[in-house]
Amino acid sequence: MVRGQAAHPTKTDSMTAQRIDGNALAKTIREEVAGRTQALKARGVQPRLAIILVGDDPASQVYTKHKVNDSTQTGLEATLETFPATLAEADLLARIRELNDDRSVHGILVQLPLPRHMDSHKVIEAIAPAKDVDGFHVASAGALMVGQPGFWPCTPYGAMKMLDSIGYDLRGKHAVVIGRSNIVGKPMALMLLARDATVTICHSRTRDLKALTLQADVVVAAVGKRDVLTADMVKPGAVVIDVGMNRNDEGKLCGDVAYDSVREVAGWITPVPGGVGPMTRAMLLVNTIEAAERTAA
Ligand code: GUN
Repeated sequence: MVRGQAAHPTKTDSMTAQRIDGNALAKTIREEVAGRTQALKARGVQPRLAIILVGDDPASQVYTKHKVNDSTQTGLEATLETFPATLAEADLLARIRELNDDRSVHGILVQLPLPRHMDSHKVIEAIAPAKDVDGFHVASAGALMVGQPGFWPCTPYGAMKMLDSIGYDLRGKHAVVIGRSNIVGKPMALMLLARDATVTICHSRTRDLKALTLQADVVVAAVGKRDVLTADMVKPGAVVIDVGMNRNDEGKLCGDVAYDSVREVAGWITPVPGGVGPMTRAMLLVNTIEAAERTAA
């Protein structure tokens, strides 16, 4: 049985969940961004993203390389500036100010984590809100909170696109977000609320998580711990979005959701890998082209 695009989740005992393919959706989104990039270029504007990496964290090196490659493949220009971990905070702030003033740069991204001697909050706040394509600036968070145009953090933005891709109508639905981070849990809850869902935010101090998730039509797991959500915690037919990025005992990438068992209960589920991860990457491109379009408007 194929569930209709706009159908509400229904579930019989014999069905396993429909997988929401983040790789396929991200590819479609990259193609859209490539089209928008071409249109801007035709008007003489080359969209440009400036990425700053401080230190030699191996994971950050991989992430920033992906961001550059994703950008280039979409027609966006991306520059990666790397600095030693000993860089003075004042020098980083000065470089950000230069990029703020550089009219050829539309997006600025400072890869996190920063070395311990730096105040990440202060650094993020130095980025001009109009170029904050990560959506981490307080101005971006505030804009999301009051429903004004700004930049949405890429991971929850990508999760929303996944819900949209199945035509899911959030109005009046109960969405449970597990995790309260500033870059995923809290903005995710605000995005779901803006679509008229009834939202519950759960966290490490939540009593009886299972009682809450069992009521949920949508569960977003964003904790960073394996098996936070198991099959006994999921209402049949629910949509399960897995934001986790963990390693299992064999060293393989896995999410926060016990995928193999939860997919026997859920109506839709996002896999790890191939779920929210590629969407996060795609949404950075969307925010960057959006930033460029706004300045060219
Ligand atoms: N480090 C891990 N994920 C991210 C991200 O999305 N943006 C930035 N700036 N740093 C990160």
